[in-house]
Amino acid sequence: MAFSKVVSSVILVVSFLSPTFTLAFPGPNPGFSPGGGGGSGGGYAGLCPEFYEFSCPQANDIVMSVLEKAIGREPRMAASLLRLHFHDCFVQGCDASILLDDSATIVSEKKSGPNNNSVRGFDVIDEIKAKLEQACPQTVSCADVLALSARGSTVLSGGPSWELPLGRRDSKTASLSASNANIPAPNSTIQTLIALFNRQGLDETDLVALSGSHTIGVARCVTFRQRLYNQNGNNQPDATLERTYYNGLKNTCPRLGGDNNIFPLDLASPIRFDNTYFKLILQGQGLLNSDEVLLTGNVGKTMELVKEYAGNEGVFFEQFANSMVKMGNISPLTGSNGEIRKNCRQINN
Ligand code: HEM
Repeated sequence: MAFSKVVSSVILVVSFLSPTFTLAFPGPNPGFSPGGGGGSGGGYAGLCPEFYEFSCPQANDIVMSVLEKAIGREPRMAASLLRLHFHDCFVQGCDASILLDDSATIVSEKKSGPNNNSVRGFDVIDEIKAKLEQACPQTVSCADVLALSARGSTVLSGGPSWELPLGRRDSKTASLSASNANIPAPNSTIQTLIALFNRQGLDETDLVALSGSHTIGVARCVTFRQRLYNQNGNNQPDATLERTYYNGLKNTCPRLGGDNNIFPLDLASPIRFDNTYFKLILQGQGLLNSDEVLLTGNVGKTMELVKEYAGNEGVFFEQFANSMVKMGNISPLTGSNGEIRKNCRQINN
């Protein structure tokens, strides 16, 4: 019910944009690229929300229809797809490098520490891409499919929507080493988290807002075990963990074994995109060390921001939307750089 309301508002926003664009750029223009950067409507580095207005006007509708089915079948899929866009953008920019499988010329990022046995959702991306290829052959990039899927997944989980700059092209390369180096580990300190976000042009506000993605989805035992049994090398649990919560976590995550047992990142509302994640952190119920240190890391203004977002969902939603646009604008390939892959898993021949 809430879903269809948000979906129709997305459609409204899209159709609202079209007359404006028609006046400025009349006529169909497949592969149209406006060039330039900055400027109007949150566009950046050649991306713009109207990019497929003529070449594939139904692109977002196709993405949404596949997402509705996939997330309807398995609500967690929204979280998995949101995370894929993040893991794409932090490695060589938002260029769909994460989707490439191993081949003669590619060492896939799928086997990196942060990704291995963890990232998922590739079949859904394939299904979206196949439908887009039928409707508008070689027009919509896999990188844009990831960005559209991240937004759609957020909306379908009850979160905010945003005007999404489009026109990213797909890489012909991947980087396993950058995937290992750039994506933060769950036991990161606050200093490391801030540094890795800064490296991507993102600040503390983006770090806290985007961590709010952990309002949906799950994590494996192996990513938070250290907090339960040996947080500081002294065989003691992390003292910031609330007692009852800690006991529950130990049931899912024994000292030995059960590495792949999963636990919700937001225990209170694991499939609803809301600000509960921040409220839970205030109660000592954040799952990952990287969640907890936003409050207790004692650097900069991250603590203040956690409290602000816990107290005001509207402010969180607004900042989340802004930060998602910012993250989605990391080093896109545009113009004649990269390509529009036919199959997201491999570069074109
Ligand atoms: C701030 C640094 C971050 C760290 C250290 C971190 C780490 C993690 C880890 C360890 C998991 C569990 C993976 C597993 O057990 O397989 C996870 C899940 C998740 N992360 Fe993050 N993350 C961070 C930021 C982000 C950002 C910026 C986003 C999105 C914009 C995001 C979205 C998600 C989502 C939605 C899930 C659940 C995925 C699922 O259920 O399939 N994370 N994260």
